[in-house]
Amino acid sequence: MTDRQQTRLSADDWDELNFPRPEVQEFDRVVERAISRRGFLGGALAFGSGAAVMGSAFLKASPALAQQAARFPFEQIAAQTDATIHVPEGYSWKTLVRWGDPLFSDAPEFDAAKGIPTEGSDRVFGENTDGMEAFEVEGRQLLAVNSEYVNTDINLPENADGLAASADDVLRLQNFQGVTVMEVAEGDDGWAVVVDSPYNRRITHLTQMTMDGPAAGHELLRTEADQTGMAPLGTFNNCGSGRTPWGTYLTCEENFNGYFGASGEMPTDEKTAAGYDRYGISAEGSGYEYHKYDARFDVTANPNEPHRAGYIVEIDPAAPESTPVKHTALGRFKHENAAAVVAKDGKVVVYMGDDERGEFMYKWVSRDTYEEGGDTSSLLSEGTLFAAKFNDDMTGEWLALTPETTGMEAAEIAIFTRMAASAAGATTMDRPEWIAVNPTAPEAYCCLTNNSKRGADATNAGGDDMSTNAPNPRETNEYGQIVRWRPVDQDHAADGFEWDLYVMAGNPTVHKDGPYAGTDNINAGNLFNSPDGMQIDSTGLIWIQTDGDDSNEGEFAGMGNNQMLAGDPETGEIRRFLTGPKGSEVTGLTWSSDKRTMFVGIQHPAAPFPDGEGSLPRSAIVVVKRDDNALVG
Ligand code: FEO
Ligand code: CA
Ligand code: CA
Ligand code: CA
Repeated sequence: MTDRQQTRLSADDWDELNFPRPEVQEFDRVVERAISRRGFLGGALAFGSGAAVMGSAFLKASPALAQQAARFPFEQIAAQTDATIHVPEGYSWKTLVRWGDPLFSDAPEFDAAKGIPTEGSDRVFGENTDGMEAFEVEGRQLLAVNSEYVNTDINLPENADGLAASADDVLRLQNFQGVTVMEVAEGDDGWAVVVDSPYNRRITHLTQMTMDGPAAGHELLRTEADQTGMAPLGTFNNCGSGRTPWGTYLTCEENFNGYFGASGEMPTDEKTAAGYDRYGISAEGSGYEYHKYDARFDVTANPNEPHRAGYIVEIDPAAPESTPVKHTALGRFKHENAAAVVAKDGKVVVYMGDDERGEFMYKWVSRDTYEEGGDTSSLLSEGTLFAAKFNDDMTGEWLALTPETTGMEAAEIAIFTRMAASAAGATTMDRPEWIAVNPTAPEAYCCLTNNSKRGADATNAGGDDMSTNAPNPRETNEYGQIVRWRPVDQDHAADGFEWDLYVMAGNPTVHKDGPYAGTDNINAGNLFNSPDGMQIDSTGLIWIQTDGDDSNEGEFAGMGNNQMLAGDPETGEIRRFLTGPKGSEVTGLTWSSDKRTMFVGIQHPAAPFPDGEGSLPRSAIVVVKRDDNALVG
């Protein structure tokens, strides 16, 4: 037990430390109520000690927390700062595929010095692997994987400033992003990509898509090249993922704004300009330089093109010729992932986070119901979007985003979803990243990765209050937390929920006590910051991946490289399972159909990974297995 765990922070200390403003008194009462109710999630489900619930940093550690370890089949590993991956004793890892590896035998060779030539650059595995899901199709194992973004300089090594300088350069960058569908198979040498599989497919910034839902065909989505407003090209900045109960892949368009720029005037139309402000679309863009060589990305010429990105896109991995569908019903924002679950009455519920400081958590509920084997083609087309409001009494509500609640038309709610949620009064969150639904209990979790700007007088891009609130209780929150909620009546379609904090990350070796020490399920042995990726396996174990500060210094001392940890939903115990190479983010996790293999993504390594000393760092998917080939999820 650490000093911090033994030291209960007084309400006065808490107040002094974090909440010098009058409303803080109310927050104190919130914490007290949370403490008195700790374990509330346990009642109906006979959960364990409930030691890890909201406010538990202010409690004595529960003895049960230390004793209950049966859920973990591994011993936790130490933090690392080196250039490779570490996994626990009894497990091994191996590279499956790296950025630039061929999906087809006619693909160009990877050349670290010259880059991959534009011709054929859509025949290789994309860069910066992110969300992924495994599917079994006709006995074959398929992986659908996002490639979130590109590092322009290493793809264009012959360009002096590392920036795109021609339409050909832009095409090369566009081809390394988007989505890969590929067949993988396990042979005598372990897992490998099945080159030339009929299922292998690249979906890039240029792939023909279609749209459905309330905004499809809307005036704001029409462009010169597509006057129907129904046929956009490509998917952008594909971050997290999801899967439908009917076996399709959901890819989530996150920081799409950065791809656009202006050659001249920015649009002056009021709605468009307000949307640009809220979503961060600027004349300069964020360094891709597409707008200089591809007019589609030049908002002076094509002001509506950004309205066609920022959606959840459905892809059928079993049908390589199928046209991906952008579902406008699920809203337009910086989509992190999409956690779908079928509610009691058969409605499809999709939980989603909008990853920007002070933006919101969302839920969508379908109008129609899912029936196994039934027609699912329009299930994600019609339904209701909701944004989360967290109350200080540990309850919450999903606020319906409708013309009545927002004063906006249905199509505008779908396009300018952030403004709709602001109008409805949703709670500003600390950058909602992945959401995961527990398949073994009626509850869900969201990684709130961090929010360095949370504090008095701060606002989000829409002007909504970003001072501390109950689920986001720390100013200048560099560590992040995971919020958990449980729907009323154990029904994910219900409007109400109860919530707590599963963990507040922190550093008890730097902060002896107080909120920056973290909750009492954080200790010197499992330090991490900035939870981001998350999946819950079939046994209910919560797998948490980080994308944070890996300096291993100061506030972050002892945390080492980014990592993957596993958490017990009942006791709150968290153990470190895997450490990534220096500079990387660990993101994307899925399991083979037989659950004997984990596929884990390593994004943007800065060290020579995976090929070792002297090699170019390459994002990669690795497989992790137990040496005895037992189940890993
Ligand atoms: Fe692409 Fe919010 O992570
Ligand atoms: Ca992420
Ligand atoms: Ca992140
Ligand atoms: Ca990332």
